[in-house]
Amino acid sequence: MNIERVGVIGCGLMGHGIAQVAAVGGFQVHVFEADAKALELGVQRIEHSLKKLADKAVEKGKKTREVADTDTVDALKRITTALELEALADCDLVVEAIVENLEVKNSLFADLGQVTRADTILASNTSSFPIGEMAAASGRPDRTIGLHFFNPVQLMRLVEVVRTEATDDAVFDAALAFGRACGKHPVSCRDTPGFVVNRLLVPYMTQAIQMLDRGDASKEDIDAAMQFGCGHPMGPITLGDYVGLDTTLSIIEGWCARYPDEPAFAIPDSLRTLVEAGKLGRKSGEGYYEWDGDKKKANN
Ligand code: CAA
Ligand code: NAD
Repeated sequence: MNIERVGVIGCGLMGHGIAQVAAVGGFQVHVFEADAKALELGVQRIEHSLKKLADKAVEKGKKTREVADTDTVDALKRITTALELEALADCDLVVEAIVENLEVKNSLFADLGQVTRADTILASNTSSFPIGEMAAASGRPDRTIGLHFFNPVQLMRLVEVVRTEATDDAVFDAALAFGRACGKHPVSCRDTPGFVVNRLLVPYMTQAIQMLDRGDASKEDIDAAMQFGCGHPMGPITLGDYVGLDTTLSIIEGWCARYPDEPAFAIPDSLRTLVEAGKLGRKSGEGYYEWDGDKKKANN
C-alpha cells in the first residue's frame, strides 16, 4: 500500500505540525481548513518552525546552511492548502486534526467517505474519542485508523497507531510505516479511551487542577514539583495551557459522560470556568498562565 499524497484536515496546533512532519518526510501534503485565517496562521507556524529547526541543524553541524535552506524550501513546496474538502479527493491517506467534538468529526468522516477514493486510508488524530465511531461514520471501517501525534508534533517523537477490530492489517502496517517516515516512534494500542498516553496524562492533569482548586498548593509549586521532583519538561498546569484548555475540557467531559463510574475521570471547576471565559491557554494568550506566543510570560 503506497502512500504518496497525504491530506491533513485542520491547520491548528496539531494539524500544522502533522502537515510539516509529513512534508519533511517526503510526502505531498494537501491541507484543508474550514477557516481561512487559521490556515494562514498555520502556514506561518510551519514556516517559522522549519526555519527554527533548520537553524538548529546548522548550529549543531548536522547540515550545512545551504542544505538546510534547500530542505526547508523543498518541504514548503510539498505543501498545498485549500478551503474545500474536495482538494483531498486524490489523497492516499487523510489525517483529521479538527476540533475535539465527536459529532463534528463523525460528520466530517461521513463526508470523507464520499469525497475520497474508495481505497484512501482515513485517520483521526483524536485525543479521546473511539476510532470505531468515526470508522463507522465513514462507511469504510476497514480503512480507518487512529494516528495520534503529540504536541508539539515537530519535537515529540511518539505517534500512537490505533486499530479497531475492523482495521485491515495492510492499513495498519501502512499507518505504522507512515508514522516512521514522519520521524516518529510508533506504538500501537487498542481502541480504548485515551489510548496509552492520554489515559494516563489527562487524569494526571485534571488531578493537578483539582489540587489547585482546593488550594492545596499554588500553580507554580504544583508545576515546579513535577518538573524538579519528577524531571518532567513542564508541570501539569502549564501542560494544560499548552495542550489547550478547550481540548482538555472536551476530553474529560466526554469521558465523564461516557464512563460515569470511572473514578479517574472528573472535571475540575476552574477548567470549565476558564474555557467559558474564552481563556483557552497558550492558543488564546491566557489560561492558568499568561502567554506570549509559544512562551509563558515572565511575570507569571
Ligand atoms: N518547532 C520547532 N522548534 C520548536 C517548536 C516547534 N514547534 N516548539 C518549540 N521549539 C523550540 C523552541 O523554539 C526552543 O528553541 P531554542 O532552544 O532555540 O530557544 C526549543 O524548542 C525548546 O523550547 P522551549 O525553550 O520553549 O521550552 P522547553 O525546553 O521546555 O521545550 C517542549 C519545549 C519540547 C514543548 C518541552 O517543554 C516538552 O517536552 N513539554 C512537554 C510536552 C508534552 O508533554 N506534550 C504532550 C502533550 S499531550 C498530547 O499531545 C496529546 C493530546 O492528545 C492532548
Ligand atoms: P485547534 O483548535 O488548535 O485546531 C483545530 C483546527 O481545526 C482549527 O484551526 C479549526 O479552524 C479547524 N476546523 C474545525 N472544524 C473543522 C472542519 N470541519 N473542517 C476543517 N477544519 C476544521 O485544535 P488542536 O489542538 O490542533 O486539536 C486538533 C485535534 O487533535 C483534536 O482532536 C485534539 O483532541 C487532537 N490533539 C490535540 C493535542 C493538543 O495538545 N492540542 C494533542 C494531540 C491530539
